[in-house]
Amino acid sequence: MVVLRSLIALVGLGGVSVQAIGTALGYGSATTGGGSAAAATPTSNAQLISWLSDSTARTIVLTSTFDFTTYYGTTSGKICKPWTCSPNPQVAIDSNRWCENYQPFAATGTASWYVAGTGYSYMLKVGSNKTLLGKGSSAGLKGIGLLLQNSNNVIIQNLVISDINAKYVWGGDASKLCLTIVGSTNIDHNYIKNIGRQFIVTGYNPAKSVTISNNIFDGSATYSAVCNGKHYWVALFTGNADTITFAQNYIYQTSGRGPHVGGTSGYTQYVHIVNNYFVNVGGHALDSQTGAVVLAEGNYFNTVTTPSVAGSAGKEYFIQSSSDVSTCTSSLGRACQANTLTSSGSVSHLNTAVLTSLKTQSAVTGYRPMTASAAATYVQANAGVGKVN
Ligand SMILES: *[C@@H]1O[C@H](CO)[C@@H](O)[C@H](O)[C@H]1NC(C)=O
Repeated sequence: MVVLRSLIALVGLGGVSVQAIGTALGYGSATTGGGSAAAATPTSNAQLISWLSDSTARTIVLTSTFDFTTYYGTTSGKICKPWTCSPNPQVAIDSNRWCENYQPFAATGTASWYVAGTGYSYMLKVGSNKTLLGKGSSAGLKGIGLLLQNSNNVIIQNLVISDINAKYVWGGDASKLCLTIVGSTNIDHNYIKNIGRQFIVTGYNPAKSVTISNNIFDGSATYSAVCNGKHYWVALFTGNADTITFAQNYIYQTSGRGPHVGGTSGYTQYVHIVNNYFVNVGGHALDSQTGAVVLAEGNYFNTVTTPSVAGSAGKEYFIQSSSDVSTCTSSLGRACQANTLTSSGSVSHLNTAVLTSLKTQSAVTGYRPMTASAAATYVQANAGVGKVN
């Protein structure tokens, strides 16, 4: 089907019009970002920091790469080597004694890395009512990620986000939706590559009304956790009461957490994983752990070793047979779509409690998924940068 977009901003920028899409798919559909605020392009990294973090509604347009790689300098510290494979295993910064506490390794050796990638204090803070748009097919951020903390109503669209201490676990996340996202976020049509840690992560407080759509998660990596040239740390949704639509994304050359949902007792994440195209995943894609309520439909898995981890503790309904389709369709009251698995491992997750939970969620019942094969075609043609703006 054709995805309808209503244009909420059509503004002049040096004689070139810049469009922000208005209607996110699913949970984030109320997002308007900076709304009608006039588009403006920052002229320095410092101005970008200021515009993103202040409390003014803004439409911020990037027309080039804002490179923060060396902006906060370098630092050095202890590292450990959790993986002994070759070639090129990632190494881990000993952040919060991670090496000692979570890996059976003491920190061995030291290394240096760029400060800008690491942690809350340096990430680009994004306030409420912001639209951050890239123009063309190469504008974006290098060496630094975005932090949405107590933010509401944010659109991040058409950006390349890349090169954040890619050799190092704990080298940095590309986008962190953390603490409290009060509601309405749309992360759309971006291209993310060469990140040390997560491409996207929600933290532990609620990430509500979030849509992550039409992005390319390019896991091709020189350094990887299992030395297969594929990035492991893709997406991690762990909040208390997350509601997330993960739709029409193009995920390739990854090996894990694609996405990982849940893991904390007492927390719940409603995640609709729909119409994504996964290809050449040398490891796992979905992993639904404690608290996860995941509906996977209309996705296309092409050469994915493990489309969804077996025996995990979360609730997942992963549609395959016509009988699964009709169970879902009668529960949600609209047509559900089967996933397609080609040259991929098998899946058996049919927890109907997912349907019971989601049939009261209008972001899910109101969604009109494409078939998996239509999604495969659509996503390869439309995901990533340079398709809008
Ligand atoms: C965001 O915009 C809404 C609607 O105009 C307004 O109520 C709210 O206060 C704004 N938030 C911030 C932090 O400015």
